[in-house]
Parts: sequence; structure tokens; C-alpha cells
Amino acid sequence: MTKTYLPYELIFKKRNGARLGDDEIAFLVNGFTDGTLPDYQMSALLMAIFFRGMDDAETAALTETMMRSGELIDLRGRFKVRSVDKHSTGGVGDKVSLPLAPAVAACGVPVPMMSGRGLGHTGGTLDKLESIPGFRTQLSKDEFISAVERVGCAMIGQTKTIAPADKKMYALRDVTATVDCIPLIAASILSKKLSAGPEALVLDVKTGDGAFMQDMAGSKRLAKAMLGICKKSGRRAVAYITDMDQPLGLAIGNALEIRETIECLSGGGPADLRELVIVFGAEMLSLAGAAKSAAEGRKAIEKVLGNGAAKKKFSEMVAAQGGDASVVDDQARLPSAKHVDAIKAPKSGVIQRLAARDIGVASLMLGAGRTKSADPIDYAAGIMLAKKVGDRVKKGEPIAYFHANDRARMSGAGERFLSTVEIGAVKPKKRKLIWDVLK
Ligand code: URA
Repeated sequence: MTKTYLPYELIFKKRNGARLGDDEIAFLVNGFTDGTLPDYQMSALLMAIFFRGMDDAETAALTETMMRSGELIDLRGRFKVRSVDKHSTGGVGDKVSLPLAPAVAACGVPVPMMSGRGLGHTGGTLDKLESIPGFRTQLSKDEFISAVERVGCAMIGQTKTIAPADKKMYALRDVTATVDCIPLIAASILSKKLSAGPEALVLDVKTGDGAFMQDMAGSKRLAKAMLGICKKSGRRAVAYITDMDQPLGLAIGNALEIRETIECLSGGGPADLRELVIVFGAEMLSLAGAAKSAAEGRKAIEKVLGNGAAKKKFSEMVAAQGGDASVVDDQARLPSAKHVDAIKAPKSGVIQRLAARDIGVASLMLGAGRTKSADPIDYAAGIMLAKKVGDRVKKGEPIAYFHANDRARMSGAGERFLSTVEIGAVKPKKRKLIWDVLK
């Protein structure tokens, strides 16, 4: 049973920089979830945490309480090897989870994946999957477990019963300027992720223009906070810091990203996407105990991407979640836009910069994302890049193709896109795709 305190005293304590104990955190979070702690006191607490921070033990206690506010899925003992999930802090064109989960499952490792929706300028795995006709991301606990057991992987979203404390707290953070706070982000992400019961986790912390954490120091602090929580909860975890200065791959937008996913699952696709799928896949196999070394894991993932096994697994997952699996071999069944316009280079030279954030916003302006939480998504809308940083272009040559059903959206989005493109005379220094690995 949760002990009782005076909320005023606990807010006062945090505001003055003291640490909160596990029971105190539980009292505040549980009270807010069941409605006994009003919004104004939780808002004050969130702002106090924003300015005063939380240490590792407080962040772990916050995560644990938020996770336990709802239904928990326990997969321990169900499989021969450990189940493993992967989380990305979000980016533009980041569709890695989509080919990764079936590739890892095709190597015999279960992947119970708890995914998210688009947030701000970033896309979300669930929205991308829902561009496949019929695909259901809201499975019951039993349906989810049964899909992971039968297929090897399943991807679901937060329901009313999974981490309800996070759902309420996130809604409040969103309107009280308390989203960009490392302990709150770490607890929010992991309370949902760990509810789905993975025994190990690969964390992909994006860094750069299109990421939540734009600089390396912030990205590392977030990675360390999440690793600390995983360790305290008894889960194995590895964190990668990867680049999000330009979009990942060429496709940005829901159905366009499903097409690129199928390319990757067929052994092709853009090199940056393929590399992250292979590196994270190898790490997941190793965390699960299904590969002895990174080299062995790499080989296994390359094999299933090359021989059709990962693609077959993706079809099985789509079918298991009610989707039209024939899209895998017949992409004409995916939504496609009425209008496709080329965005042409204003001058000749080498592409210096394609800022991920602005490109994400341009894609949103075409209809690929939401500007308000209840907005419908145009699954066909988005951007196909024809060039990436370091590529040569001639004046008038397409840099990208815009896909939209509503032609009126093209010009504003085109201006936003072109405002971010820099073309120069010399080849820019290549940025790393993987900046760091933390264990
Ligand atoms: N994603 C989440 O789920 N929560 C955050 O706080 C930030 C990103």
C-alpha cells in the first residue's frame, strides 16, 4: 500500500533540490493516476523536476511506479532465448524498427515491440504500420503474447491499460513546457517499453538536428539515464548514439517508409538504413544469447535479409495483426498520392546540408503527420529524397519528390524544404552514422 504524505511538502522538497524517496514518488504518481492529486500539483512537481533533476535511483523509482500503474506483460520463461526489444528516441525517416523486428525474429529471437506514434516533426512506427490496410496496433495482452509466440514478433502501441500514469503525465508535460527533461523522458519511454516484458533492450539515442537531443552531451546523458533504469530493473541493455542530422534512408512518410522497409527486407534499400538494421540486429541476437559475437550476429542478419526469411516474417506479422500481407509483394495495394512533384535544385554543386528537422516539418505540411493530436494522417503523403548530403546535383535536377493528395499543400512544404538545403562547391566532411556505443 502507498504511504500517505502531504503533496505540498513533497513538491516543496523537490523544489528546494532535495531527493524524493521511492514511497514519496509512488504516492505522487499513483495519486495523479487515480485522480486524487490534482493537475496543478503534478504540474508544479514536473516543473520542480525540470529545474532540479532526479538522481538515478529517483529516476528508476519513477519509471517503476509509472510502469506498475498499468498492465504488465511477463514473457519470462516462455522462450528458449531472451526476448529483446529496441527503442529509438525518434527521428525523421527512422523506420529501422520495421525491418529490424522481423529480421531478428527470423533468426529465432522473440521481439515483443512496444512502439509509438509520431511526435512533433518525427514519424512513429505505429502510424507507418497503420498505412497497411487493416493493420491493428491495438492488440489485447493475450493477442500480443500469442502473436509473439506464433510469429516471433509483434508491434503494438500504448493502450489505456499500459502505463496510464505516463499517458496522463505526458499530456500535462506537453502543455507545461516540461517535455525536454532527461529523467522525465527516460521514465516515460521505459515505463511503456518495459511494460511489454522484453528481457533485454537496444536503445538508439538519436543525436543531431532532427533529434530530441540535438547535442552529443545531452544524448549521452539520456542514454546513461536509460541504461541506469534498465540495469536497476534487471534488464540487459546497450545504447547506441546515432546520427539524425539528415533523414535516415530516402523515404519520409508512412506508406513511403513501408515501401522502403520492404526494399530493405528484400536485401536492398539505402545503405544507412541497412547498416543500422544489421548492427542493432546483431546486438539484439547477442543480448538474447543467440549469437556469440557481433560478427556472428551480423552474418545471421545479413543472411535473413538476403534469403527472404526476414521478408516472410514481416508478412506473417502483418497477417497476424489483421493487415493485408499481400502489400509485401504488391506495393500498389499501399496508399499512393494523387500528386507527385519534383523539387529541383536551385543551383549546381554538392549537397552540404539536408536538415532533418525542417524536412520532417515539410513532410508534416504535406499531410504525413499530425499538427493536433486528433488530426487524421494522409498515409500516402511524404517525401522521397533523390539526393543525400555529399551527392552532386545539377541546377534543375530533382533533389526530392513530394507526394501529396492535397495539391494546395505542395508550395508551403516546398519552400520549407528548399530553405534547409545548402549546396556548395566542395564535398562536406562525412558525418558518422554511429557516434558511440554505451553499455
Ligand atoms: N517519447 C516518449 O514516449 N516520452 C517522452 O517523454 C519523450 C519521447
